[in-house]
Amino acid sequence: MQSLTWWQTAVFYQIYPRSFADGNGDGIGDFAGMIDRLDYLRDLGVGALWLSPHYPSPNADCGYDISDYTGVAPEYGTLDDFRRFLDGAHARGMRVLLDLVLNHTSVEHPWFRESRSSRDNPKRDWYIWRDPAPDGGPPNNWYSAFGGSAWTFDETTGQYYYHFFFKEQPDLNWRNPDVKRAMWQAIRFWLDMGVDGFRLDAIDTIFEDPALTPHESRLSQIEMLRIWRENRSPEETKELWEQFALMFRYQVQQPGLHELMKELRALVNEYPGDRVLIGEGDDIAYYGNGSDELHLVFNFPLMRTNRLTPAWVRANQAERLAALPPGAWPCNTLGNHDVGRMWTAYGDGVNDAALARLHVAMLLTLKGTPVLYNGEEIGMTDLLLERFEQLRDNQAVNLYHLAVGDGIDPAEAMKMAAAISRDRCRTPFQWANAPNAGFSPPGVTTWLPVNPNYAQGVNVADQEQNPDSLLNYYRRLIGARQAIPALLAGDYAPLHPDEDRYLAFLRTTPDQRCLVVLNFSPEPVTTGFDLNGARLRTLFSSHPRPTRDEHPERLTLAPFEAYIGEVIRIGTDWE
Ligand code: NOJ
Repeated sequence: MQSLTWWQTAVFYQIYPRSFADGNGDGIGDFAGMIDRLDYLRDLGVGALWLSPHYPSPNADCGYDISDYTGVAPEYGTLDDFRRFLDGAHARGMRVLLDLVLNHTSVEHPWFRESRSSRDNPKRDWYIWRDPAPDGGPPNNWYSAFGGSAWTFDETTGQYYYHFFFKEQPDLNWRNPDVKRAMWQAIRFWLDMGVDGFRLDAIDTIFEDPALTPHESRLSQIEMLRIWRENRSPEETKELWEQFALMFRYQVQQPGLHELMKELRALVNEYPGDRVLIGEGDDIAYYGNGSDELHLVFNFPLMRTNRLTPAWVRANQAERLAALPPGAWPCNTLGNHDVGRMWTAYGDGVNDAALARLHVAMLLTLKGTPVLYNGEEIGMTDLLLERFEQLRDNQAVNLYHLAVGDGIDPAEAMKMAAAISRDRCRTPFQWANAPNAGFSPPGVTTWLPVNPNYAQGVNVADQEQNPDSLLNYYRRLIGARQAIPALLAGDYAPLHPDEDRYLAFLRTTPDQRCLVVLNFSPEPVTTGFDLNGARLRTLFSSHPRPTRDEHPERLTLAPFEAYIGEVIRIGTDWE
């Protein structure tokens, strides 16, 4: 087998620390809780854990507003607790990645406090300050991605500061070398401690157009929201994305980014043990030449649909794999803390349970590193909050106010807010059929409400007992994937390109070839593959199969079955 590094073969698992496990009974997840669950994670079979931010933060953006890059949020524990977690993960053969938020800090970071204190403070230029426009308004028409202007006026010095996200998240000025120096130091702090890599937050937004060129989008944010809410035709969706791209054109993907990513890669390369950088930013360009920028870049385009179909996945793979520079390694995911849960997002409302199994089988058989989001392995679903006071995601709070300001009835505005709120996928992890789903002790108010479906089997303890549960399916599937070299290292070659009932492809290394067939239809499918007389030996199926050996010329799949068979060749060549 071609020799691969750990980050090419491991299944990655994202932990949202606030919602994973509450070890001290205060309603908030923490390191004590995570340490207790390390055996669970090892038994699941995942090889790398990515933690959403664990740093001190006033939580305007649930930790993505950092006030100390080398600390641990007191509600999560101490640096020693973090070390124990890291050592515990390493001892169980799992790597640990941290979230690295380069674009902005919290308003409460000492750097920003200094910067805002006076126009001649040495850290003034660490952030982006501009004079008001002649009418006293913001310097230009740029929006914040979370709603409203990207500029906030600061009384103390009579200037506006720029923030791509919330006003509590001022953008750092990455054109100032001192900013880079300070951030590189923080990165070294964690690398020296033994952290295995970073997920890079929002890299697209690190630089902005210094000329502050106004955008030319003709849609306002609220108009976009309205279109997004309604049932959209493909044309409207396309129009929406185009207007969206126009709106942020001068605020994202500006010159300087690739040089910065190269520098960061060089820094990380100084460390032994193949530390890894994963980019949040779907642009394939972040791979650089395949070995000089990021190791992995999320294939987000795969997720930009509410229905995964064979045609959609095939087209995505064709485009993505063809665009990768030589040596670059793909990275696929179907969920994270910013989007609807995979069960809800890609379900059809009827066959959700079967689709959840099919979709994860797809994720784990496509070429590249798969990244799971905590809770998907037990089928956690979106929880739509009903009351405004329950919202913790300020993006939803902003949109609620925008909608009400636009004349939308408050009850309807709340529904809109709940539907886009990232709270829906961040509810506490469901460990048991017990009060608070076993996340926190009984009687404690958890930071977000627990999804009541823990009492209907959506919890770890019940699923542990049931050999047919989704959890045990994930374990079996991950185990199978890790034991099949062709799934880890093989090339991807699609078969039957016009078929809309199922997705079929080969994964091939010099030593092994596997056929993967994923039946996306609610009907059984009988099909045939011309494999030059080879036989098929079943390595995995989501469904019981009567025989282990199959004739590829006549293969029958149950509704929504995920099938992996090894191609047993006759001669020495595949073809
Ligand atoms: C992307 C993160 O995933 C999201 O949760 C956060 O709000 C923004 N970046 C800003 O840091």
